[in-house]
Amino acid sequence: MSGNSRFISSAQDGPHPDLPDLLRRHLAHPFRKPLADYNREAFAAALAARDAWNPQAPLIVDAGCGVGWSTLRIAAEFPDHFVFGVDQSIDRINRGKPLPLPANAVLVRADLVDFWRLLAAEGIRLARHYNLYPNPWPKIGHLARRWHGHAVFPVWRELGGTVECRSNWAIYIEEMAQALSLLSGQTVVAEPYATDDPMTPFEKKYLASGHGLWRCRVDLG
Ligand SMILES: C[S@@+](CC[C@H](N)C(=O)[O-])C[C@H]1O[C@@H](n2cnc3c(N)ncnc32)[C@H](O)[C@@H]1O
Repeated sequence: MSGNSRFISSAQDGPHPDLPDLLRRHLAHPFRKPLADYNREAFAAALAARDAWNPQAPLIVDAGCGVGWSTLRIAAEFPDHFVFGVDQSIDRINRGKPLPLPANAVLVRADLVDFWRLLAAEGIRLARHYNLYPNPWPKIGHLARRWHGHAVFPVWRELGGTVECRSNWAIYIEEMAQALSLLSGQTVVAEPYATDDPMTPFEKKYLASGHGLWRCRVDLG
């Protein structure tokens, strides 16, 4: 992968001032967008795969897994957990399918906006929840497209688990940390992240391009 990824350019020079109010609105008004059938089917198939392996296995979601490198790594790191690597891109999921996925993981083509709500509706609590290099949506007017500004975000609290989010855009992680603090009542901080062993293709690309990496983590119980 080439090392010429462009730095994120945004008119925003700090966390969006509207984020706290937007999140409070989302917390006060449940998100009721109807669930799509293809997401219900993908969710049922993912759950069946977990149940066939071990119905008691704690679950990890690798949200926006792309081609699934990270899904593979997480499954190897937590061999007694089952990992759902979820991505909406059929192209990326299919490119990942030749990966030698261990028995405790599946790659799922689904929209997370529905997949997260389906997990919550099933009463499922996650052990871990990774959000590695989500689309940054850096335009000021795109706050509501970033996960922490999206109407579905409050469902993360229902899902619980240890949440980890990484990005090459410090402001995204500062906002995410602010939103997770509001959601959890805990102090969540944005921290620089360094590694020489990238976990995803985007992480590898950003490192090769000399970008700084950022992350925030919180245990949502
Ligand atoms: C910037 S890529 C990062 C991919 C991978 N995590 C990595 O670090 O290499 C963001 C990924 O999120 C996925 N994505 C964005 N919105 C999504 C949604 N609503 N549901 C599922 N996947 C989504 C995209 O298809 C894309 O693969």
